[in-house]
Parts: sequence; structure tokens; C-alpha cells
Amino acid sequence: MELGEIKQVVQELTQEFEVAFSGISSSTDVGLLSSEFIGKKGKVATIYRQLGAMEAADRPKAGEVINALRDHIQGRIDGALPLFLERERIETLNASMSDPTAIVDHNRITGARRHLVTRTRIQLEDTFVGMGFSVEEGPEVESEWYNFEALNIPKFHPARDAQDSFFLELGESNSMVLRTHTSPVQVRLMERGELPIYSVMPGRVYRRDTADARHTVGFHQIEGLVVDRDINFGHLAHTIETFTSAYFGPGITSRLRPAFFPFTEPSAEFEVTCTICVGKGCRTCSMTGWIELGGCGMVHPNVFRATGIDPEIYSGFAFGFGIDRLTQMRYQIPDMRILTENDVRFLSGV
Ligand code: DAH
Repeated sequence: MELGEIKQVVQELTQEFEVAFSGISSSTDVGLLSSEFIGKKGKVATIYRQLGAMEAADRPKAGEVINALRDHIQGRIDGALPLFLERERIETLNASMSDPTAIVDHNRITGARRHLVTRTRIQLEDTFVGMGFSVEEGPEVESEWYNFEALNIPKFHPARDAQDSFFLELGESNSMVLRTHTSPVQVRLMERGELPIYSVMPGRVYRRDTADARHTVGFHQIEGLVVDRDINFGHLAHTIETFTSAYFGPGITSRLRPAFFPFTEPSAEFEVTCTICVGKGCRTCSMTGWIELGGCGMVHPNVFRATGIDPEIYSGFAFGFGIDRLTQMRYQIPDMRILTENDVRFLSGV
């Protein structure tokens, strides 16, 4: 091939490129055009291959001409690509945007209401406040000390198992957890040392459970704590019973059954009359007429010692139960998982 021919081919290719370039409309087109012309097997590469068959003297000049074409194309591509990418970014953004004015339809505004679990929590708080308790809160990220150690839960206790707890990568390894129960708030209150204590402590807790009809990974508990002089088991039983009838209304009572918790001694599980069958026996209560609600007991002397309270002078009781479970019972929700699915029927106004 002669130098003149190469120049001719390059000029034609330049024109061909310009025509194609004027027709592109997206970053994908830019990519395709780029490989068509200056890709490894592109049109410019094909001309380069002609160089070998040329007179040695003409080669440098011909190479220059082809290089100029390649640089020109590369420049056009580099200039166009960011513009298309930016335009496409904005288009995607706009497409995903909702129009905030679109929902201002005054005839359709129906208001909203609190989630059932929140409503249950507030009802519980109101009930306990009515019985003379204060409402306290604690952090959801806890140290091992508050969540386990101070509650007399020893190192080898199954509750500490990684299968139950979410450990956090924070500080020393295995030293911080998402609290697995609201009981650590008891410790914080006792540590504060303002006695006597008559408090309830609601909040979110976390366990590595597999979600099913009766379990979710994040759920809610309410803890109760009384610390005063001369508190005995009778006070505990009476408090549970008073709460049960105040919260559930007539016909529903409570009973205690021996149980074990490391932070209370003696410990009990408390059960209330099944709200579905009112004690007659049904599927929900496995025909027993009773539903287990939570745990309770007299504060263990070790817990008092860990928090700087003298167990010779003070005594107390504690209890704790699941708010979601109570919500499930009260509103007869067959599967707990729907509480976290954000079904608008839970949230929209009546
Ligand atoms: N923390 C216990 C749990 O999550 C519940 C509990 C049992 C709380 C006994 C208490 C108690 O305060 O005294 O399973």
C-alpha cells in the first residue's frame, strides 16, 4: 500500500467514525464504538496491519497519520463517555425519585397509628405507672459485665453461647454484645444506688434465633425491679397478680411455677390464664388453660453484691417478659413475623 492510499483510507475512516459518533446516545454506544474503531480487532488496528507491507521509508509517515486518527478517536470517546455517564446517573436518580407532592391528596389522608408492639409497650408502662413504678431505659449495646457477669451468669452458662448472642467487634473480643435481655438495665439501676427502686424497663433485645411463628431476631421485653427493705416473695406474687388483672381485665389471673434463673433465687415462671379460651383449654395453650409469660424471682445476693447493695439490709424481686409475645396473645396474631414486615395495615389510621 502506498502512503497516499493510507491517507485516503484514514480520511474515509475518520468520516465514517464521525457519522457513527453523531448517532450515539448512551455510554453503551460509546463503548461499542470504541471497540469497533480502536479496539484490539477494530478498524484502526486493521490499518496498522497494512504498515508491514509498505516501503520502509513511508512507514513512519503512515504510522503518524494512523496514530493521529487513533488519538482523535480516543479523544472523542474520552470526552463523550463522562457526559453520558453523568446523564444516565441523573436519569436513574430521577426515575427512582417519588414525587412528594403526589401524596398530598387531602381527601385520602387518614392519619397513622402506633405499631401494635409500641401500643402494647405503652399500655404496659401505663399499667405499671398506675401501680407506682417508674419507667427506665438502658442501652442496647452492652458489655459482658452488664449483660451476663453482674447478673450472676457464669462464663460457661449456655446463655452466653455465641449461638444465642450477637457479639460485637468492639473493644476486646467477645466483650460487647447486643443485649440479649432487658435484665442488664436492672444492674445499671442498682449501681446508681438510688434506693428504694420500683421500676420497669422496657426495650429492644436481640437473639440469634431463627425467626418462626413465635420468634423474631429482634424483639422487646419489659423488666421489673423492686429493691427495698423487707421485700419478700409475697410482694412479688401480689405484684404479678395485680398487674395481670389490671392489664388483662377480669377473669384472667396468674400463677407461679418453680424455675431457674441465675440472677434470682428462688426463681419462678409466671403464667396467666389463656386469653384465647379464658382458661377452658385450647390449641394456643396446649389445652392447659395457661400461657407462660415470663420469668421472675427474688434478686440473687450475688447481683446485689455486684452492684454494691448490701443484701443484709435490702431485698428485692425482679421479673421480665416479652412484649411481642404479649402483643401476639392480646391481638391474636398467628405469626410473630408479620409484626416486622411493615404491613401498612399495622400502621395506617383506622
Ligand atoms: N432475663 C430473662 C430472659 O430473658 C427473663 C427474666 C427472668 C427476667 C427472671 C427477670 C427474672 O428479671 O427475674 O429470659
